[in-house]
Amino acid sequence: MSSLNVGVLGFGTVGSGVVRILDEHKSKISQITGYDIKVTKVLVRDLTKTRRYEDVDVAVTDNANDVIGDPSISIIVEVMGTIDIAYDYVLKSLRAGKHVVTANKDLIALHGDHLITVARENNCDLFYEASVAGGIPILRTIVNGLASDHLKKVMGIVNGTTNFMLTKMTSEGLSYETALKQAQELGFAESDPTNDVDGIDAARKMVILTRLSFGMNVSLDDVSTTGIRQLTVDEIKLADQLGYTIKLLGIAEEHNGAVDVCVTPTLLPKTHPLSGVHNENNAVFVLGEAAGETMYYGPGAGELPTASSVVSDIITVAKNTKLGTNGNAFSSYVHETNKLADKD
Ligand code: NDP
Ligand code: HSE
Repeated sequence: MSSLNVGVLGFGTVGSGVVRILDEHKSKISQITGYDIKVTKVLVRDLTKTRRYEDVDVAVTDNANDVIGDPSISIIVEVMGTIDIAYDYVLKSLRAGKHVVTANKDLIALHGDHLITVARENNCDLFYEASVAGGIPILRTIVNGLASDHLKKVMGIVNGTTNFMLTKMTSEGLSYETALKQAQELGFAESDPTNDVDGIDAARKMVILTRLSFGMNVSLDDVSTTGIRQLTVDEIKLADQLGYTIKLLGIAEEHNGAVDVCVTPTLLPKTHPLSGVHNENNAVFVLGEAAGETMYYGPGAGELPTASSVVSDIITVAKNTKLGTNGNAFSSYVHETNKLADKD
């Protein structure tokens, strides 16, 4: 069986999970794709750190060119985070003819359109399922499963850290600081958790979801964003006593041909399905003209759930390689009439 070699940029929470899943599910993955898919090199910042899964046979380097410039590597997995450095590495990889899989919503929300163009020009795949809602295959669902429909609304809990914090502050009365610390220790939070608590991470995910759902260009500045920093345990408990749950929701909705996008803490009656989404779980509710209401639920962050989405993208790249149909990306159709609603 021929091999497909993978280079992974980043060996933290998600990178470790990718290495582990590709190793543990090797046999099934080779049956599905027809390739022996192996991670051969991993990029890190600090070579002295102790790594999980050190028993897996993979070369660790702190020089990006060792990975991107390796002609035997055909798939680059970017799971290091950052915007500028990741952009540089992804661009170099695509220009070198390598397929790219990334979990980096910051990168895709800001540079996704350009990277998709470069990927197509170089006949490379570019997939980013893990960038939104961790382990839930929501991007595939929107671009494939719901492709026939005209979507009217996409709404959900798309940040695991804040949902985990709100759950712990409600059910265990944890302080904001303790709940955030636990989310960081569990590997859910961004390296700068400001992005989680101020709603920026959720807003970037809504940029990606809005592009794919409504076929229109949208940027972070178009999303009215409020995070959870101002919420107190007393307010959360009061809402609870009154029969409500406070959730940080991302909402993109079409009204008369214009789409309004926001991220905001929202009071939901406890009977609402999104009220029952606890801890780091996410859920995305979609309203389509034809299909009506559908909802997608699962872990929104964490090592293995996120890595499972990354590995699914790697499998798609491998299948495309087998068929000779590379040059694909999750990308939006262009809906000429859709425009953004005026902000207030
Ligand atoms: P971590 O902080 O756990 O890991 C980042 C890894 O990248 C580390 O191994 C780090 O090296 C390496 N790295 C960072 N910057 C550089 C650099 N400049 N040069 C070389 N190596 C570098 O992050 P996560 O695994 O949590 O997240 C990775 C990406 O996945 C992010 O884009 C994040 O938004 C996204 N994501 C994360 C999820 C999660 O649940 N954690 C869920 C969905 C998406 P070193 O170890 O030496 O410091
Ligand atoms: N920090 C992000 C979250 C990781 O908590 O949802 C998953 O994208």
